[in-house]
Amino acid sequence: MAELKLSDMKDLTRIERIGAHSHIRGLGLDSCLEPRQASEGMVGQISARKGAGVIVKMVQEGKIAGRAVLLAGQPGTGKTAIAMGMAKSIGEETPFACLAGSELFSLEMSKTEALMQAFRKAIGVRIKEENEVIEGEVVEVQIDRPAVSGAASKTGKLTLKTTEMETVYDLGAKMIEGLGKEKVQSGDVIGIDKASGKITKLGRSFTRSREYDAVGAQTKFVQCPDGELQKRKEIVHCVTLHEIDVINSRTQGFLALFTGDTGEIRAEVREQIDTKVAEWREEGKAEIVPGVLFIDEVHMLDIECFSFLNRALENEMSPILVVATNRGITTIRGTNYKSPHGIPIDFLDRLLIISTQPYTEEDIRKILDIRCQEEDVEMSEEARILLTKIGVDTSLRYAINLITASALACQKRKGKIVELEDITRVYELFYDVKRSTQYLMEYQSQYMFNEVQIGDGDGDADASNDAMVS
Ligand SMILES: Nc1ncnc2c1ncn2[C@@H]1O[C@H](COP(=O)(O)OP(=O)(O)OP(=O)(O)O)[C@@H](O)[C@H]1O
Ligand SMILES: [Mg+2]
Repeated sequence: MAELKLSDMKDLTRIERIGAHSHIRGLGLDSCLEPRQASEGMVGQISARKGAGVIVKMVQEGKIAGRAVLLAGQPGTGKTAIAMGMAKSIGEETPFACLAGSELFSLEMSKTEALMQAFRKAIGVRIKEENEVIEGEVVEVQIDRPAVSGAASKTGKLTLKTTEMETVYDLGAKMIEGLGKEKVQSGDVIGIDKASGKITKLGRSFTRSREYDAVGAQTKFVQCPDGELQKRKEIVHCVTLHEIDVINSRTQGFLALFTGDTGEIRAEVREQIDTKVAEWREEGKAEIVPGVLFIDEVHMLDIECFSFLNRALENEMSPILVVATNRGITTIRGTNYKSPHGIPIDFLDRLLIISTQPYTEEDIRKILDIRCQEEDVEMSEEARILLTKIGVDTSLRYAINLITASALACQKRKGKIVELEDITRVYELFYDVKRSTQYLMEYQSQYMFNEVQIGDGDGDADASNDAMVS
């Protein structure tokens, strides 16, 4: 059951709009973990990408628990992008949980509970189950409809074969419904789970491939199964500890998984689950897959969260923790002390630090090119050169934002390719940080609340208040 819900969730998140990082498809490393100059949407930032690659390798081997990595660098140097690249290259089965530091303070639960849930979202459990299945090629489906509708439920017969045997099964109403839903016809290869009665279509038999020339491109052809019709099959479900928690906490129910409205989960529930999972591990039924927990904007955490993290990392099931920040030496939230990145020294000491560097002009140009492709915007050579220059002078983010805006300007004048004029037009229309600050300096007196001068305290506001009124 749990596995079903997992696949539904993945589908939901796949409907994505073009976001800030949708062009990132991985870390762009070759098989020796050497970064390619530009690959999988990633450009430059070679040493940070290489470091991230080593961490991904460490996670995939799954032997080490409780390591933590810090991505530190100036704003817009690709820290979040690298974390997204790690998420993409880590593989489907390994959980990757994402969280922004400030989220901990806005949820309707305590900070440590939110952190605990995040940790458990990043720990996967691979559960192995042996199921009895019937697998074979459908020879015939025969359904007897009752003469008077509604008089009796439908009955029928299903003939299945393998290369060695053929058996006729009697069908009940539920199975008939299942066959109808899957549109099973003769020539299909199907599997029936004996316990649940669930029918899955595995494909069409090769022997029938010539009979129908009008099959869709998505039709999969498979061999007719051999051996016995009834088999024992090993099925592997991958769920996270958090999902098991939610499903088993009776007050919430599994629907909470979709709404995210899980509330606090009681400690006893977690303890029971940990004991159960430990039992399964001993019996060889389950394996723990430590994943990655990524906390962006980690300087937003306060001293209590940091001490929780210190402890949580010492657990043997702990995932690899990746945190990112763009702060320099600043106050640790919840204290009056200053420290590098706003992270307490004892926690900082546990971190491997990967630093990101500002981009060169060449890198900026390549990133802008990739973004143009991603957003489906065609741009003339001169426009690109100007946009790159704007990117160098202001910031990469500002230049990326101008792509969409200039494409709209181009559309407005019914052009097909974004030209120099479109870029200059939106450059004049939208201010970057530098120009906006400059403007503020000049016209400061006309804005509200400027009456409180720096170093003026909150004392006599009257004098400067007229500036606001006039
Ligand atoms: N090496 C790169 N290759 C491709 N795109 C990149 C690269 N670095 C950054 N970008 C893109 O540039 C934009 C800004 O980068 P990102 O958001 O990762 O910065 P950041 O370091 O997280 O900044 P902040 O500290 O402000 O959060 C994003 O759209 C990102 O996808
Ligand atoms: Mg970021």
